[in-house]
Amino acid sequence: MITLKEKVAVITGSARGIGRSIAEKMAEAGANIVITDILKDEGEKTSREISEKYGVKSIFVESNVVNFESSAELVKKTLDEFGKIDILVNNAGITRDGLFLRMKEEDFNRVIDINLKGTFNCSQAAFKAMVKQRSGSIINIASVIGLMGNVGQANYGASKAAVIALAKTIAREGAKRGVRANSIAPGFIKTDMTEILKEEVQNQILSQIPMGEMGLPEDIANTALFLASDLSKYITGQVITVDGGMVMY
Ligand SMILES: NC(=O)c1ccc[n+]([C@@H]2O[C@H](COP(=O)([O-])OP(=O)(O)OC[C@H]3O[C@@H](n4cnc5c(N)ncnc54)[C@H](O)[C@@H]3O)[C@@H](O)[C@H]2O)c1
Repeated sequence: MITLKEKVAVITGSARGIGRSIAEKMAEAGANIVITDILKDEGEKTSREISEKYGVKSIFVESNVVNFESSAELVKKTLDEFGKIDILVNNAGITRDGLFLRMKEEDFNRVIDINLKGTFNCSQAAFKAMVKQRSGSIINIASVIGLMGNVGQANYGASKAAVIALAKTIAREGAKRGVRANSIAPGFIKTDMTEILKEEVQNQILSQIPMGEMGLPEDIANTALFLASDLSKYITGQVITVDGGMVMY
């Protein structure tokens, strides 16, 4: 059985969706949890429910990943509360879709700011602590769109390709210091993010998935659990696609 007993996991954007599912899975495996999000009420509720359900310690930290100081503060609060940080999951992310020819500069910048700069901010703060501890696992939630591109998602695809490269670099710099970094590239997963897509878009997506159905948040959470645990101790710098067979390479 996979255990994260005595481990401390910080999951960004974990008030709901995939982030929440990852937090629940890690709590179930015994980890103490830091829920962090810009959604205060939802984040506090998630944190409370997780500690009640799984009997672990869970705290909520309101933080916007875009803000460098706030991300450093997030890691400081984690260290003050738990004395260490074993796992960072960079999950907070958004989409602002539009055809490349018409994509607004502000929509490009917003997606890069949250998905890429946010991942840099949290990773650098966590990496400093992990290097001192000489142990840690950083997991970036990327996307298959970062591997294959997608019509209308130039900003999103570029941000997700970049977090994969960021994880590979952290993996190389952390390899002899006990710190691993990997990425998960989800395909299409049933969450608020995909619920807003029009039915015709959803049908078009389904036709590209060999397994013929969307994934569930827990499919991503199970993979994150593996990458966070010692079962993956010899794995670093990798991308695991969890996509019903969309991308095969
Ligand atoms: N749903 C999918 O099909 C899918 C596919 C591939 C990748 N992903 C990735 O998975 C991750 C989670 O997606 P989801 O589907 O659960 O989306 P979601 O919108 O349900 O959840 C995203 C969470 O991130 C939080 N967030 C947004 N901006 C933030 C910020 N600046 N600072 C802190 N928190 C912030 C939101 O409040 C929300 O709680 C994202 O990185 C997304 O790109 C999702």
